[in-house]
Amino acid sequence: MCGIVGYFGKRNAAEILVDGLRRMEYRGYDSSGIACLKDGVIRVVKTPGKIKLLRDKVDASSDEALRTATVGIGHTRWATHGAPNEINAHPHTDSSGRFVMVHNGIIENYREIKNGLAQHGIACVSETDSEVLAQLIAYCYKDNLEKAVSEALQKVKGTYGIVVMTDHEPGKLVTARCGSPIVIGLGKDETIIASDAAAIIPHTRDAMYLEDYDMAVVTADGVRMFDLQHSPVNREVTAMDWDADAAEKGDFAHFMLKEMFEQPDAIRNAIRGRLDFEMGTAILSGLDFSPRDAAQISRVLIVGCGTSMNAGMVGEYAFEEMADLPAEVEQAAEFRYRNPIITPHDLVVAISQSGETADTLAAVREGKHKGAVVAGICNVVGSTIARETGRGVYLHAGPEIGVASTKAFTCQVAVMLMMAVKLARGRRMTRHHGQEICRWIERLPELVEQVLEQNDAIKAVAEKYAGTENAFFIGRGYLFPVAMEGALKLKEISYIHAEGYHAAELKHGPIALLQENTPIVALLNNIPGKEKTIGNAEECKARSAPVIAVVSEGDEGIAAEFDDMIVVPDCPPCIAPIPTTVALQLLAYHIAAARGCEIDQPRNLAKSVTVE
Ligand code: F6R
Repeated sequence: MCGIVGYFGKRNAAEILVDGLRRMEYRGYDSSGIACLKDGVIRVVKTPGKIKLLRDKVDASSDEALRTATVGIGHTRWATHGAPNEINAHPHTDSSGRFVMVHNGIIENYREIKNGLAQHGIACVSETDSEVLAQLIAYCYKDNLEKAVSEALQKVKGTYGIVVMTDHEPGKLVTARCGSPIVIGLGKDETIIASDAAAIIPHTRDAMYLEDYDMAVVTADGVRMFDLQHSPVNREVTAMDWDADAAEKGDFAHFMLKEMFEQPDAIRNAIRGRLDFEMGTAILSGLDFSPRDAAQISRVLIVGCGTSMNAGMVGEYAFEEMADLPAEVEQAAEFRYRNPIITPHDLVVAISQSGETADTLAAVREGKHKGAVVAGICNVVGSTIARETGRGVYLHAGPEIGVASTKAFTCQVAVMLMMAVKLARGRRMTRHHGQEICRWIERLPELVEQVLEQNDAIKAVAEKYAGTENAFFIGRGYLFPVAMEGALKLKEISYIHAEGYHAAELKHGPIALLQENTPIVALLNNIPGKEKTIGNAEECKARSAPVIAVVSEGDEGIAAEFDDMIVVPDCPPCIAPIPTTVALQLLAYHIAAARGCEIDQPRNLAKSVTVE
C-alpha cells in the first residue's frame, strides 16, 4: 500500500526520497511524489505511474533548489479516494502552498471536516481524504507546527501515518501515527522517516518505532517524541536486523523467484535453535508457556488474511492432529466483526508477514479485549502486530519484497508445526513422536531444495498451460489449504481465474465448469485420502479436463493416466504442505512469466494491506 519517506539531514533530499520510494515500490502504488523545502519555499513534484517517471521529472526539472534541498517528504499512493492522477497524488499542500503533507491510512470523517473547512472558505482541489487533513493542519496553525498537527489529529477519525512540513518553520519535520506504521531511522547527521524499514536500511540500522498516537518532531537537534496531548514519550532505539542486499533482487529476474529460492535458508533461519531433539519439542522463547500453561489452553483460534490465512489452515490441522486441541482458522475481518465467543483459555494466533495488516491487527485487539491469550507469527520485526501481541514467534525469513507471498508462507507453516509440537508435548504427545516430528522439521530445507531442483521440469509443464483462462486446484486434509494457496498464487500473478477446492467438493457444483481447456492441479501426494483424490482427478479427466498430477516420489505410476506430472518428496502429511506449496509457487511463477505478467507488482495488489 502507500509508502511514506521523509528526510532531514545534509545530503540531497530529492535523491534519497526517490530512492526510498523505489525501495518501497513492492508495496504496490499507482502514483508518487516528493516535496522539498529550500530557502523558505516548498517545491512539489508528482506524477501518476511508476517511480521512474517521478525520477525523470525530478531530473528534468530546471529548479536547482530540488538538487540542493536537504529536507523533504515523499509518497507512493495506492488509490483509495479518487483516481490515481497527479492532483490526487501526494504530497498534498494546503491552499496557501505553505504546508505540505504525506499520509498513509484513511480519514473516515473527511467529508465532515471538508464541509467545515468550506464554511471558512477553504476549498480542496483533490478528491482525496488526505488533502483535507493537510488543509486542516494549516487551518489549525498559529505559530507552532506540532501544536497544529496535534490539534488537527484530535479532530480526525480513522488511521494515519503522516509527515508534515511548512515553510513557516523550515528546520522541522513533524510525523505522527495511528494505525499506520512510522519508523524513524537515526543516521549520522541525518534522520530518515519511513513507513517501511526498506527505505531506511541503506542509511542506518538504528530505528525508533512510533506507537499509536505518538508524534515526533525532527530538527537539527534530534528527535523529540510526545503524545497528542504533548506529554513526552520515550521509545527505545532498536537495531533493524535486515541487510540492504536482502532487499535487492540480484541476478534473479524477479523478487518472487529470488524469494522462492531463498526458502531453504529462510526455513533454516526459522527453525534454527528452536528444535529440542532430546525432549522432542520446540523451544520458542517468545511463547513463554510452561507445560502447565499449555495444558490450560482449550482451543486455538488462528486469524489472518490471504496467504497467511492459508498457512493458518495448515496450522489448524496440525494443532488438532498433534496437540489434540480444537482449532479454528478464520479470516481476520470476519473474526473482528462477528463478535466471536472467546474465553481466557483460548489461544488466538495472529499470522501476518508484514505485521501491519489492518484486519489482522484489529482481530488481535479484539482477542486481547476479550481476555484470550494472544500470540503473533510475524516476519517484520517490530511491526505493530508483533509489538501488540507481545508474545509470539518471528519467522526470520528476511524481507519479502515480491507482492506474492512465498517464503513467508513456508516459514509460517514451519513455525506453526513447531508451536503445535510444543503444545502437544505439554499435553498427550510422546517424546518419541515429538522427536520424529522434530527430525522431519529439520529436514524441511532439504525437501524444499529437492523441489527447487525441478525448476526446469515445472517450467516445462507451466509453459503448456500459459494460455489457460480458468484452473482448479484440488486436495484433501493437509493439502486442502495447499490447493487454496496454489490457486491464490496463480490468480494473483498470472490473472488466470483459479479456484482451490476440497477434492470432494468439486462435484457439488464446480465440476459443471470443467472442459478441455480447464486444467486441474490435483494434489495426489502419499497422504491419507490419496486414493479418493485420485478418484476425483479421474472424474475430472472423464470430463475432458487436463490433469496436472502432483505425486510423491515413488508414486510416479499414478500420473500415467493423467496429462502432466510434478514430483515432490514423500513425507508425512503435516510436512507435505511445505514442499508441495513450493512446487505450486514455481508453477504459478512460470505460467505468469510465460504470459509476460508483471510478477513482482501484480495489478491492483499491495504488499501490505493497512486499510480494511
Ligand atoms: C498473497 C499475499 C496476501 C497476504 C495478505 C496478508 O500472496 O501476499 O494474500 O498474505 O495480504 O498479509 P500479511 O501476511 O502481511 O498480513
